[in-house]
Amino acid sequence: MEGVIDALMRNILCTINDYDLCITEFVRVVDSLVPKHVFYRICPELTSKNTTGTKTPLRIQLLGQEPEWMAENAIRALEIGSQGIDVNFGCPAKAVNKSKGGAVLLKDPEKIYQIISAIREAIGSNNQLSAKIRLGYEDTSLFLEVVSAIESAGANSLAIHARTKTHGYKPPAYWSYIANAVKHSSLDIVANGEIWGKESAIQCIEASMTSSLMLGRGALSLPNICNTIKYNEMPMEWLDVQALLNKYSELELEGSKSFYYSSRLKQWLRFLKLEYTEAEQLFQSIKTLKDKEKIIEHINNSSY
Ligand SMILES: Cc1cc2nc3c(=O)[nH]c(=O)nc-3n(C[C@H](O)[C@H](O)[C@H](O)COP(=O)(O)O)c2cc1C
Repeated sequence: MEGVIDALMRNILCTINDYDLCITEFVRVVDSLVPKHVFYRICPELTSKNTTGTKTPLRIQLLGQEPEWMAENAIRALEIGSQGIDVNFGCPAKAVNKSKGGAVLLKDPEKIYQIISAIREAIGSNNQLSAKIRLGYEDTSLFLEVVSAIESAGANSLAIHARTKTHGYKPPAYWSYIANAVKHSSLDIVANGEIWGKESAIQCIEASMTSSLMLGRGALSLPNICNTIKYNEMPMEWLDVQALLNKYSELELEGSKSFYYSSRLKQWLRFLKLEYTEAEQLFQSIKTLKDKEKIIEHINNSSY
């Protein structure tokens, strides 16, 4: 998740969960080979062996509209250690859509076909290739055409965020549309959208007819959500979340990006407060603070 699930967050969440795969924030591809240092900024883990710092494999996500440049950058991503390639056709951001990338491509199945084909040809058949879509741009009329384009172009799997671009992030997610893709395609279909815990995960699996799930915001609001779904683990208590916030603070401050510390932490709390009232109280108590020591003091005193 762009601007939210960075290397440090991936490390924290993959340490306490048994995720099968992690996808990076997207690398924006326009009309050139993206410099290696940009890839490493987005996934610094790749300097130390292509995982999240844990055993979870890490795959780079590319977002772009030019088939040849997407192919060139896919080769680069593999060279620096990405475990397969993921392609983003779901981003609703205005700036991205205006420059013909992300969800706007859902209006053009032929272009999607060209992009996936070019990448497949460039990376060969041994590397995993996945795509991420929404149900459509304004409506779902091209949904199955897009799924079919992605399949015939040679992708292995497809994650579907069960909303159109126009729906934005507004609940509900229309999981039953995903079942149509499962019926009509032999791709490994992954369901995404509005999974916040075990209960919604079960509902999603039933409606979408796939047991492969992708987690977005839920991964941040309930830190051990993956294991609650996979292994029936109990949802984390606030005391454990508090310890995680401390670990996050320590690691963030050790790293080179401590400049972002207070804004990143507040952003995480905005998600955590969907699950924990203590997070809301902590957020209120630190929202005007920038000083790291003071913020950490508040975290340690947050067993309300
Ligand atoms: C702040 C934010 C950043 C996101 N960044 C990305 C991204 O870089 N790549 C991507 O495929 N999806 C991105 N998404 C979409 C999520 O992966 C996911 O599809 C969406 O949030 C719906 O799932 P959820 O209800 O589990 O959050 C982002 C969503 C949010 C809220």
